[in-house]
Amino acid sequence: MDNKLLENLNKQLNKEMYSAYLYFAMSNYFININMEGFAKVVRQQAKEELDHARKIYNYLVARNEQITLMPIDAPDTNWINPTDAIKNALSHEQFITSLFNELFELARNTKDYATEVFLQWFIEEQVEEEDKFRTLLEKMDNIDNCDCEIMHIDRNLKIDKEYVE
Ligand code: FEO
Repeated sequence: MDNKLLENLNKQLNKEMYSAYLYFAMSNYFININMEGFAKVVRQQAKEELDHARKIYNYLVARNEQITLMPIDAPDTNWINPTDAIKNALSHEQFITSLFNELFELARNTKDYATEVFLQWFIEEQVEEEDKFRTLLEKMDNIDNCDCEIMHIDRNLKIDKEYVE
């Protein structure tokens, strides 16, 4: 595999672990302000991120490539309200999408077709992840951060079967 592509895949493995940390931290934030519905949503997201890291890890093993595990940064947790936290989730996912796009381009430019196909799953997944947080944020933005309405959304998320921990 091309050296730069390998280096960036290893970095992406780290970024997925960081993403899990970010959503675990966000879950703590929501638990501390008694919003269990939002906490459930982001904790499920953390689980998905660990799965993404595992997929990349397994792929590098299957390709017999060098795996480099780097330190995981501590997430910044200074959210001022629930909307601010979910906005952070959306912008983080947009950033992750840009990284996958760069990886895909590099795989294509170096004619690594197996990696290109492997990355397609992530590119589709990012569309879903951005959509999830954008949809949630639109609901929250519409009510202008009125506490009672945010709590109403939280209660609905808590019983929403789509989100399982
Ligand atoms: Fe693994 Fe949220 O991207």
